[in-house]
This record gives sequence, structure tokens and C-alpha cells, in this order.
Amino acid sequence: MQTRSINLRVDELLARMTLEEKVGQMTQVGVLQDEHVEMVRSGAIGSSIVASSAWAGHEDQPDVVVDRLNEWQRLAVQESRLGIPLLMARDVIHGFRTIFPIPLGQAATWSPELVERGAAVAAREAAGVGIHWTFAPMVDIARDPRWGRIAEGYGEDPVLASAMAAAAVRGFQGDDPAAPDRLMACAKHFAAYGASEGGRDYDTVDVSERTLRDVHLPSFRAAVRAGVGTLMSAFHEIGGVPVTANSHLLTGILRREWGFDGLVISDWNAVAELIDHGVARDRRDAARLAVLAGVDVDMCSGCYRDHLAELVRSNDVPAATVDDSVRRILRTKFRLGLFEQPFTDNHRSRTILHCAEHVAAARETAAAGIVLLRNEGGLLPLGKRCSRLVIAGPLAQARRELFGTWTLNGVESDVAAIADCVRQTAPRGMTVTAVGGLVDEICSAARKSDMVVLVVGEHPNRSGEAHSVDQLGLPPGQGELVRTLAALCKPLILVVVSGRPLALTWEAEHVPAILWTFHPGGEGGPAVADALFGRINPSGRLPVTMPRSVGQIPLYYSRKNTGRPPATCRFRSHYIEGSYRPLFPFGFGLSYTRFEYSDLELSAATMSADGQVCVAARVTNVGDRSGDEVVQLYVRDLVGSVTRPVAELKSFRRIRLEPGEGRRVEFVLRPEHLAFWRLDGTWGAEAGEFTVRIGPNAVEGLEGRFTLDNAVAQAE
Ligand code: GLC
Repeated sequence: MQTRSINLRVDELLARMTLEEKVGQMTQVGVLQDEHVEMVRSGAIGSSIVASSAWAGHEDQPDVVVDRLNEWQRLAVQESRLGIPLLMARDVIHGFRTIFPIPLGQAATWSPELVERGAAVAAREAAGVGIHWTFAPMVDIARDPRWGRIAEGYGEDPVLASAMAAAAVRGFQGDDPAAPDRLMACAKHFAAYGASEGGRDYDTVDVSERTLRDVHLPSFRAAVRAGVGTLMSAFHEIGGVPVTANSHLLTGILRREWGFDGLVISDWNAVAELIDHGVARDRRDAARLAVLAGVDVDMCSGCYRDHLAELVRSNDVPAATVDDSVRRILRTKFRLGLFEQPFTDNHRSRTILHCAEHVAAARETAAAGIVLLRNEGGLLPLGKRCSRLVIAGPLAQARRELFGTWTLNGVESDVAAIADCVRQTAPRGMTVTAVGGLVDEICSAARKSDMVVLVVGEHPNRSGEAHSVDQLGLPPGQGELVRTLAALCKPLILVVVSGRPLALTWEAEHVPAILWTFHPGGEGGPAVADALFGRINPSGRLPVTMPRSVGQIPLYYSRKNTGRPPATCRFRSHYIEGSYRPLFPFGFGLSYTRFEYSDLELSAATMSADGQVCVAARVTNVGDRSGDEVVQLYVRDLVGSVTRPVAELKSFRRIRLEPGEGRRVEFVLRPEHLAFWRLDGTWGAEAGEFTVRIGPNAVEGLEGRFTLDNAVAQAE
């Protein structure tokens, strides 16, 4: 539908609305109950979360019943005065019934195509049961693995997260979110939620405007450029101003600078929490602050419902402010086609849930996100050297746990445990013994085996919202199990299933083979088994830095050089015990084959303000089996008006190479790729020298230099 006609229809409808009906559109409630019937009839509700968000994704949710949603929609459309349809929302984060890896695991694929497809599958399944709006993608940059919600985002880097954010928006919304198999997406949690002190969820964030602009905003900017229909304001404060009352963010940057014309919803109860933050005296004040800052929809606090009309009548809130919010909400509903088609055809939905095509997509994504961190002596893939295999460990038999956090509609019976998949995938002639809980039983079985696969890691309830940790080793008891088995001097393979990076320093030094999967979703069992037996060649790359200890946090690759660059000598940035280096760097991952980089070429030594420099290298598969390599391009701005990171990812490409095959991989660099928040508070690139590196991760590769001959102002 044309924007012009939508705007006309919005204005016509708005002109007919009472103030109470306008406030109703700005009110979101939880699961619709009998108590809401009169509110729906009177137009006092605009949308509903079809889930009990009080459990923040850690709880099985009542299934979505399309007939029930259609009945609520009928009530709104046929029995309210203006017949404005309801928006039905839900946290469809990494799958609806077919569960994909958690977003951190999807980021480990470094494949925007797989992320887009996963979101499209989730949209197809959720829209089919009457959901219109998902509170995803979560695009918060996370550099602190203590934070439980690192699981829900795309890692530590703005460029990788931006690519995934745009891909997810495209997947959820398609070209037209009104299509029966698409959802309206919601980029969250705007913004810098992942920078909370101590990695404690909801805690204080105090980042500079420069860090906000350079690190935490780009992924939201990418989502807005991709056409995301909505954003969610976060719980926390930034520098003393809670985001949900922050007009600089919600209006100044989001609307005036970026031109975002979609709607902003608060996070759950975040409007009322302005009282806890100590910036609102009461719920009336909270409603006033939030609506003036730019929050269009109040998620479940009731502050708008209870106070907004009176605030307008007492001139504490301009009527025009409410009208602007209601326009954005109505525009969203028109964009979703809800006025034309408010009801969901409930015949289609059941046939596509967890269908073979969706399951295959989830399995491919799970496989592509598996990261091979160690493989000393080529222990993997399992093969002829092993005829008696033991598989054990706290997650070897896990099924529902493989889903990870924020899985509301996953069904455990859809999931095969890793141990079962290993047993089914093992080649003829190999006996596989799956051993349960007792350590001495595991040791006894291990003594009679050739190799041991130990599956360790985290329960999803260690991960996700409100689940931050202050230690980064394996959960209690698992480290001892690893050490006990390592002492048996049997070839030991560790499979780690987690919702975050963990500091497995001892394990990385003593266990010859380590496969890592961030909660891989419903198809994690087959994917891990395929990786163990070499039916797939692991190709995941770390979307986050792996630390050696919790004491190093925050630790990320695009650090500043400081005036005393890290080294092990005294008067430099270092620890008097332990290393300042990560255990495994951002972008790292091994393969069952090997890739070599050669022949770095730059098309020019100088980039003009309106020009570009092509940077290329040859990547060759020098091993004996095909494999995917993620070729990464990093840049360093050697001298700036402000300090600049020692490396910044600027582009990446995942390529498949056959044994012996070499390919020239070329990237195009332009001034826009060099832009940052300069000293004068403008976005742009600065003239000067840059190093550029093409390589397999954040610390290795072939390096060259070029010069940008003029400063270039850019649109952020
Ligand atoms: C939660 C989360 C947010 C989610 C919302 C609705 O508290 O912070 O990510 O979308 O509430 O469930």
C-alpha cells in the first residue's frame, strides 16, 4: 500500500479518535484475559504480548491458539467504535516451533544469508498462528560474557552485528510485513544495553557519546536502514538518563538524525521503572517523561493507560505528542495490512510448523555455527583410530537445553540428544557407549575405550535475561570432571554447549580437541554428530573474544592502543600474573582442512575522498578436504583526531574451497568504511594513513597500507 494513502487514512482515522482511544493505541497488555474484554470493546488496548513476559523467556509459554487470537481480533474490529485491529506480539527470537541456534550461535556462522533464512522461517511459523510482531532482532553489542543476554545478540563487533541485524530484519519482514508469512520486526534494546557495569543485567551504563556512536548504535542504524518497523527502548540508564526517558536517543538521534518513522515501544514495565531509577516521582511523572522522550507504546506498565489522558488535559503533555505517537502506531497497523486482513487463516499454520524444510534449515545453521577451537594431532574427525567411543557429560543427553534461552514454543520431543545422534552417526564397526552421571562410571567406561567425547557447558537458565554470572569457568563440578577424565590419558574431545564465551583456559591447554556450539537449537544433536564424524567440516568463527579469565573482562579485539600498549614488561598495560591476551581471538575458528593467505594486493596506495581502494588476497585450501573459510578484512586508522582502535572489522566473506583450490578474494574500501565519531562531533573519515589486513581472524593475516588524502564527512 502506498505510503501516501496510508498517511491519508491515518489522518482520517486519527481525526475521529477520542483522547481515550488514542491512549488505548499506546497501551500494550500481556496475554488477553476476560478482564480485558471491555477494554478492547472501548478501544483502550492497542496491542498484546501473546506470552507471559514476566518469565523473560525462561519458561514454557502457553501455546498460541490462532482461533483465540482471531476471536480477540473480531471483538476489536467488530465491537469497538472505530474497529481498529489489535497488534499481536511475541518474542520470536531464534525460531518459533523450529528452533535455530541462539543469535550468538547464528553470528558464529558469519553468514547473513543463514540468519535471514532463519528469521524468515520463524516468521512463517509465527505469522501462521496469528502473531504480527516479534520483539527481535536483539542487536545489542556485548563485550562482557558475564552478561546473560550476550546469548541473544550477535556478539562484540558493530560490523558483524550490523550485517546480522539487517539480515534478520529482512528475514522477518521480507519486502512486505503485511504478507501472511512475515512479521513486523523490532530492533532492541535501544541502546547500549550490553555495556552494563559488571555485566549485571539492567545495571548502569555509562559510555561516552563516542563509544555510543562508534560501537553501540551502528547495528541499530543498520536495522533502521533495512526498514525495521519498530524499536524497543531499554531498561537501563546511560550517563544518568534512563533510555526510556531519553529524548536525545529516542527523538534526537533516532528520529531527527536517522529519520526513523516507525514506532518505539518500551521494554516490559520500563516506563514505571523510571520511578525506581529515581527520575520520576510517580507513575504519572513516569508516563510524562516517557511519552515526551519518544516512547509510543507502553509495554505492560499501565502508566499511559492510567495517566496520559489527564496529562494531556492538564497541558503537561502536548496533544500533538500523543497524536504523533498514535500516527506511528496506526501507520504500523496499516503497513501490516491489519485493516484489510485482521484475521489469520488457521488452516495453513499447522502444516508448516517444524516441517522438513524448516528442520533442514535449522540443521544447516546449527552446523555452520560450530566452532572448532582445538584439534591437536588431528584427533577429529573421529574415524578409524577409534573403534570404542564413550560419550558422556552433563549435556550429552540434553534435549530441551539445546534450545537455549528465549524459546517459547520449542517442543522437547523435536530434539535428539547429542549422545543419541553420535550413536546413530557412528560408522559401522565403532561401538558407542553413552554413560550417565556417575564420574566413576564414566571413568570406568573411559578406561575400556579408545576415545572419550565429553559434552559440557551451560543450562539455558544460566543464560539470557536476568542471568548474569560472576565466574566464567564451566558450571560447578564440570571442570573437575574434565580434569578427572584428562588424567586417564585417553584422547579426550570436549564438546562445549554454552550461551556465552567461557574461560576454559585449563581445558584449552590440556584437552586436545574442543568443539564449541552456542546453544545450537533443536537440530544441535545431528549437527554436532556430523561435525564429530566429519560429515560436515566445522566452519564457525568466534563472534566474541574468548577470555582466559573473568578478571580480564571487558576484553575485546578492537581495543585502543593506549599510551602504554600491552606487553609483558613492567610499565605497560598488563597483569602481573597471567596474560593480557585472549584465550581465542574474535573471528577465530579452525577447520579439518587448512587455508593459506597469499598475494595481498591494494589497487592504489591512496584513496581519494570520492574514491576507493580494492584490497585482495588469494586464499588457498591446502588441505585434503573441502571447507568454508571466513575471510575477514580489518583496518586500523593510525592517527586520528581521537584515539582509534588497533583493528576494526570492515568486511567479511564466507567462501567454500575444494582441496587445492585457490581464490582471489577482493574487498572494496571507501571513505564511508573509515568513518567514525570525530573530535568535532561529526561522523566522517579523516585523512591519513591506514593499515589494512586480510586474514582468518582479528589477529592474523596479510597487511598493507594506504592513505586517505582528504577528510570526508559522511552521513552516519
Ligand atoms: C523482556 C525483555 C525484552 C522482551 C520483553 C517482552 O523483559 O527485556 O527483550 O522483548 O520483555 O517479553
